[in-house]
Amino acid sequence: MLASLLLLALAAGAAAAPRRAFPAKPACDDALNPYPDGRRLTFAPDGTFKVVLFTDLHYGERDGGNVWAAWGVEQDTNSTRVMNRALDDEAPNLVVYGGDQITGENQLWENSTAYLDQVFAPALAHDTPFTSIYGNHDESYNISHVQSYWFEKTRAAAKRLSWTQMNDASSADPKGVFNYYIPVYASASARTPALLLWFFDSRSGTFNSGYFNVSDEKHMSQDWVDPQAAQWINATAGRMRDAWGALPKSLVYVHIPPAAAQVIGNGSVAEKPEEHPGIDYDEPVDVQGQNGAAFWGRSKPDKPFWDAVTGTLGGADGTGLIAVTAGHDHGNDWCGRDPAVGPFTFCFGRHTGYGGYGSWARGSRVWRARLDAAGALADLHSWIRMEDHSTANTTTLVQGGHTVLINSRDPAPAA
Ligand SMILES: *[C@@H]1O[C@H](CO)[C@@H](O)[C@H](O)[C@H]1NC(C)=O
Ligand SMILES: *[C@@H]1O[C@H](CO)[C@@H](O)[C@H](O)[C@H]1NC(C)=O
Ligand SMILES: *[C@@H]1O[C@H](CO)[C@@H](O)[C@H](O)[C@H]1NC(C)=O
Ligand SMILES: *[C@@H]1O[C@H](CO)[C@@H](O)[C@H](O)[C@H]1NC(C)=O
Ligand SMILES: *[C@@H]1O[C@H](CO)[C@@H](O)[C@H](O)[C@H]1NC(C)=O
Ligand SMILES: *[C@@H]1O[C@H](CO)[C@@H](O)[C@H](O)[C@H]1NC(C)=O
Ligand SMILES: *[C@@H]1O[C@H](CO)[C@@H](O)[C@H](O)[C@H]1NC(C)=O
Repeated sequence: MLASLLLLALAAGAAAAPRRAFPAKPACDDALNPYPDGRRLTFAPDGTFKVVLFTDLHYGERDGGNVWAAWGVEQDTNSTRVMNRALDDEAPNLVVYGGDQITGENQLWENSTAYLDQVFAPALAHDTPFTSIYGNHDESYNISHVQSYWFEKTRAAAKRLSWTQMNDASSADPKGVFNYYIPVYASASARTPALLLWFFDSRSGTFNSGYFNVSDEKHMSQDWVDPQAAQWINATAGRMRDAWGALPKSLVYVHIPPAAAQVIGNGSVAEKPEEHPGIDYDEPVDVQGQNGAAFWGRSKPDKPFWDAVTGTLGGADGTGLIAVTAGHDHGNDWCGRDPAVGPFTFCFGRHTGYGGYGSWARGSRVWRARLDAAGALADLHSWIRMEDHSTANTTTLVQGGHTVLINSRDPAPAA
């Protein structure tokens, strides 16, 4: 219907960039590549791999009271501009849509996911692979994470470039099954990945999630990663160690920050702001379990998730975990650690959308990993790319093959 017009527009945009070919299934044992067709993401021939995170886009806002008002249209046009500029400036190998793509509580049942065509248009126009995690606003009366996933996977224009996975084994709650990993290989023929990207579903904490026209408490969703994900992480990491000999280093993405982010925000970030460049307006940090835990009679509900991410992906000395990154708190974009949490870095993305609260200048967080001559991860930097094309506040996360946290106010390092 309306969406077919958008598809035409998308097809026209996508035609501008050459179609990207993914390496075919290699001959080597690849049982842990989660993509059944064998496709892989690989580092570029120059030994780099770059990720850009677009978070909290909040497409499709309107006034409350179920009265349609077109005030979100200009915000959406602006958000599209922010993304297109970042893709022009950075030319990433992967886009991560970090959740709250849509302001779900403002949507009508009959077209609640239709804004995703606009959300994905910049990635499609740049022929850039993308993957999604979902946020608390992507789940409401008339929208769900599951609906958003199926919309993404059935759009002719989007499905070729989408790397999002649905993983029933990762969650007892069918609303929170988007927990998955993407291995990134040094080359098309590498036997083991050089870097792992993990994505988690922090669900929503809203009433009426994913059910049409109901308003009772039993349909309320929890706002933390389902504890079953911890078992899945541990089992999966065990299989990886058996198959690969060691676990590659991991970058972790989730929409709502883990509870540890509030400890870091209250602690070292508040105490030593000069060592934590970036904006820090949302204090205390809004974290997983904050809105639903009391209702469900739970305390520290994200602990299983956090223990598996830090203990298992981090490994015995924690150095396997490069950083956990979240969105959700639009007013923050720092990277930090705190002794009370351990040797684990937490980073915020940068609010990308003109939708959603806050008028801080829009941008995105970027990561660039680089391999050494042997194809091992050598260094990894992260910075903020702003809509005005500037970059700022580069953080070094891997240096000489070692996981570190070195914050700076420097612009992005030279290519
Ligand atoms: C959209 O961007 C333009 C140009 O920067 C700006 O003037 C306008 O205020 C923005 N609109 C909204 C709703 O933020
Ligand atoms: C959900 O969609 C229906 C059908 O379009 C609409 O009548 C209703 O107002 C929407 N619900 C909410 C809470 O927006
Ligand atoms: C959804 O439907 C409403 C009401 O017809 C319309 O105003 C809105 O533009 C539609 N949204 C999309 C993304 O097509
Ligand atoms: C939603 O539920 C109410 C009350 O049960 C009912 O009157 C209404 O028709 C329902 N709306 C839709 C769109 O099914
Ligand atoms: C962080 O500080 C706020 C007060 O600003 C407090 O309510 C909250 O409990 C603190 N959280 C932690 C984890 O220390
Ligand atoms: C970079 O850090 C400085 C110092 O904290 C801050 O003023 C500035 O807003 C930050 N820039 C971005 C893009 O986050
Ligand atoms: C996962 O493994 C970590 C240690 O690596 C452990 O602390 C945690 O309890 C395990 N979680 C589950 C659910 O088995």
